[in-house]
Amino acid sequence: MNFVAALNEVAAKNLLVLEERIRQAIADDPFIYEACAPLFKGGKRLRPMLFLLCANSKAACPPEKTMPLAVALELIHTASLVHDDIIDASKKRRGVETANSKYGAQIAVLVGDYLFAKAFQLVADNDYDVQVQLILSKLVKNLCVGEIMQDRSLFEVPTLAEYYIRINLKTAVFLSSCCRLGAIVAEMDAREVENLTAYGSGLGLAFQIIDDLLDFFGDEKITGKPHGGDLKSGVITLPIIRALAVSDDASALRKLVTGGNVTTADIDAAIKIIQATDAVDYCRTRAEAHIDSARVNLPPALKTSVSLALEQIADFVVDRTR
Ligand code: FPP
Ligand code: MG
Repeated sequence: MNFVAALNEVAAKNLLVLEERIRQAIADDPFIYEACAPLFKGGKRLRPMLFLLCANSKAACPPEKTMPLAVALELIHTASLVHDDIIDASKKRRGVETANSKYGAQIAVLVGDYLFAKAFQLVADNDYDVQVQLILSKLVKNLCVGEIMQDRSLFEVPTLAEYYIRINLKTAVFLSSCCRLGAIVAEMDAREVENLTAYGSGLGLAFQIIDDLLDFFGDEKITGKPHGGDLKSGVITLPIIRALAVSDDASALRKLVTGGNVTTADIDAAIKIIQATDAVDYCRTRAEAHIDSARVNLPPALKTSVSLALEQIADFVVDRTR
């Protein structure tokens, strides 16, 4: 299922404006433009889209109130991916060569920093409330803590609780913050702000669980990144946690995933062991449960077009192939 195809007309119009604003945001400096334009070519724009939908979920919110923050959210996300790819030494992202592969880690760190700084410049230039700045700062702190947690325990098997803490910090807080920011910018009441935040949180947990499944079973041509990347870099995720709990080959699998230096043959062997268990169904069932809880939290009095789009995004998150 294609994410953009799932969006209704309102959302699709916003997306066109957003693309042009992203282009403008990276156009100040010729090298930054050259380095960043390809990085923004792929990508689903899920975060800014969630923000824009929530901001427009009661009445139309003027673009001057929404677009700078929507762009800032995508810049922060892309900055985090640029840094993530340095950490993981990844060569491909969103179907194109990563900044670290193209220019080396030194330049890539600075490209990520630039995008990050530009995001906060957009927020400062557009008079957003201090509450908005606080939410943004907290979400970035959470991203960093989630990433640090992950990188300090590579090739170690997390407990289910540890896995959830990590995916919450890395992904769910970001998606829930996008929804929360939309509700705040639209001056919705406190209860609706909390409900949309909870919608984003359920969506985020499901999104990351599916992302972790796609890392094993996704089609590289569609995901835009090679499969098995998590295992290779020592990140142990839910399909492995489950397979280790139920597989007859658990000890062989444990050896494969905790030994360091994971080869392509190790990844194939791990995939075979996972497939012989209920791990894929288990992950999907968990993701679907988080999506159900996201849906339940959608406030009742939203514009039909927006609640439809938010429902479609919920469908997309579990059905997606990229
Ligand atoms: C991708 O997830 C990476 C993240 C969700 C967060 C990365 C965060 C940082 C590097 C710290 C924040 C830095 C800045 C500049 C804001 P993944 O690794 O699970 O997925 P992948 O397979 O797409 O890499
Ligand atoms: Mg990564």
